[in-house]
This record gives sequence, C-alpha cells and structure tokens, in this order.
Amino acid sequence: MIIFGLEGTAWNLSAALVDKSGVIYEKSATYVPAKGGIHPREASQHHAEHMAKVVGDVLGKAREQDLKMDGIAFSQGPGLGPCLRTVATAARVLSLRYKIPLIGVNHCVAHIEVGKWQSGARDPAVIYVSGANSQVLALRKGHYRIFGETLDISVGNAIDKFARNIGLPHPGGPKVEELARQAKNYIPLPYTVKGMDLSFSGLSTAATEAAKKHDLADVCYSLQETAFAMLVEVTERAMAHAEKKEAMLVGGVGANKRLGEMLNTMCEERGAKFFLPPRKFMGDNGSMIAYTGLVMLRSGTSTPLAESKVRPGYRTDDVAVTWA
Ligand code: ATP
Ligand code: FE2
Repeated sequence: MIIFGLEGTAWNLSAALVDKSGVIYEKSATYVPAKGGIHPREASQHHAEHMAKVVGDVLGKAREQDLKMDGIAFSQGPGLGPCLRTVATAARVLSLRYKIPLIGVNHCVAHIEVGKWQSGARDPAVIYVSGANSQVLALRKGHYRIFGETLDISVGNAIDKFARNIGLPHPGGPKVEELARQAKNYIPLPYTVKGMDLSFSGLSTAATEAAKKHDLADVCYSLQETAFAMLVEVTERAMAHAEKKEAMLVGGVGANKRLGEMLNTMCEERGAKFFLPPRKFMGDNGSMIAYTGLVMLRSGTSTPLAESKVRPGYRTDDVAVTWA
C-alpha cells in the first residue's frame, strides 16, 4: 500500500509518499516569517504558492517509478484555518483526480504514529511538545488520552516568544538550546505544575525579564531546565498512573537534546525505556501524515468528501485509534 500525504497546518508545506517499509520520497517548502511569529494568512499564501511545485514533484516521483497510490492523506487539523483550507482543497482535488480514498489525519496523532514507527516504541507515554501543543498522552481504550497539557501556551511557543523578545529570529528553539550550552549559572524561574497540567506563559515572561539583568546563556539554560523539569514531572506521573514502561518524545521541541537527556534519565531511574525518533521526523513533515493515513486506511478508516471539512480545533483524544 502506497499513500500520498500532505502536511501544512502551520510553517511547513510538505508532501510525501510512504509505504509500510519507509519513506519513498518527501518534498517540502518552509514558510519563514519576515518578522515576528507565524502569520496565518501569509503562511497559507506561502502554501498556495508552493503547492503545485511540492505536490507536482512528489507525483512526478510516483510516475517516474511507476508507483500506484492507494490513498491521499492530509492534515485535517488542528492548525491554522487558512493553511488547513489550502491543504484540504489540494487533497480533495488529488483524491478526485486519482479516484482513491481521502484520509483526514489528526496532526497530533500523526506526530505520535510516525514516532512509534521510526523509534520502535510499542505502547509509550508520549510527550508531544511543539510550537502549538504541549501534551502528555497515553493510549487507553482506543484513544490517545491526554493526561496533562498546558493551560496556556505551549513550551515551544514560550521559548519562541522569549527568543523574539530578546531579538532572536523565529523559531528561537534551536538558538536558545545552543546558547544554553554556554551557561554557568542557574537562575530560579517560575515552575508551574497544577495537578497534571502545566503553564508556560509566566515562565516565558519571567525569562524575558531575567534577560535584562543576567547573562543571556544563563537565562536560556534556566528557561530550558525549568520548562523541561515540569514536563518530566508530569510524564513520570502519567507513566505511573497509566502503567506504561515506555516513554517517547515527539514534536518540534523534541529536537532539543537536553529535553531528551532529562527524559532518558527519568526513564532509567524507574526502569522504563525511552524512545527518541530521528530528528527529521520530529518537526512537521509530509511523511507523518502519509504514514498515519496508511495505518488508518489499512484498518478501514477513510474520509468521505462530505466529511473532509477542516478541523482547526481537532483534539487528539477525539480520534478513535482503530489501528492499534
Ligand atoms: P504543531 O502543530 O504540532 O504544534 P508546529 O507547527 O508547532 O506543530 P513543529 O515542527 O512540531 O511545528 O514544532 C515547532 C517548534 O519546535 C518551534 O516552537 C521551535 O522553536 C521548536 N524547536 C525546534 N527545534 C528546537 C530545539 N532544538 N529546541 C527547542 N525547541 C525547538
Ligand atoms: Fe506539529
């Protein structure tokens, strides 16, 4: 079975062909905001402008290798409305053109599924951290249940906001990680865990304030240590509660080495196993949508045209995991 997948919920327009043994081909076009953060309409214009090239390239590959596609998967949500509509329109056209099923994929579930596929985790507690989401989940009774999540902004957004405030370009995550490596001191910052939920907004503001008085590397380090310790605490409790012997890190912030290291230490201490998918599968990519479409279609799930409306607020736990 070969599935064509199209991702474009936010900054990355990406199309891919996968089968169960791996990624056959992937092509992306990245939107980089001229200044500030992601602008939804500009991002969707970017996707519209690059759609023909990105999709055409992947279809060209399929033709060249004489591959027969079995389905068109697309990121149905959550994400930015204008971006989602651009992607869904293209996906519907392809499904009609090739007369193959359309598969509406939940973007968050796709981060999880591609992570399991690429890391070998079987039934992990999942730490899903990105620019828009921070959730700790585990599969229970056919749904990825959210054990804990942010009450305000995501950890990626908190780091990006801080980075912007101190004059670094978007996305700030990688640059903050680099600066943090040169730190010498830890500066106490607000640590906010409420039950199983997290809050990062105050932390981001406090770090911005701290940067006016302290060494920048020290602030970057302290911001990471504080935010990541909060995530580790909630993950550990979710693992105990859901009785999971595995943990897996996914989402764009998962590219951060320090976060992986901290989670790995926690897992070792409780005799659990930590899984980290390869970096190229961490951020948004077309392969994750294609692969999730593949497992969905194989289990008999597809999306009739009439139900292909975009879902900007699509919740992870809304999805019936028919393929587990
Ligand atoms: P989602 O819709 O799943 O929330 P997204 O559009 O935010 O996805 P992702 O690629 O999953 O996109 O995540 C992007 C985030 O990852 C940004 O906030 C970016 O700063 C962060 N990030 C990338 N690399 C690193 C890193 N090395 N350390 C920390 N954060 C990072
Ligand atoms: Fe994402």
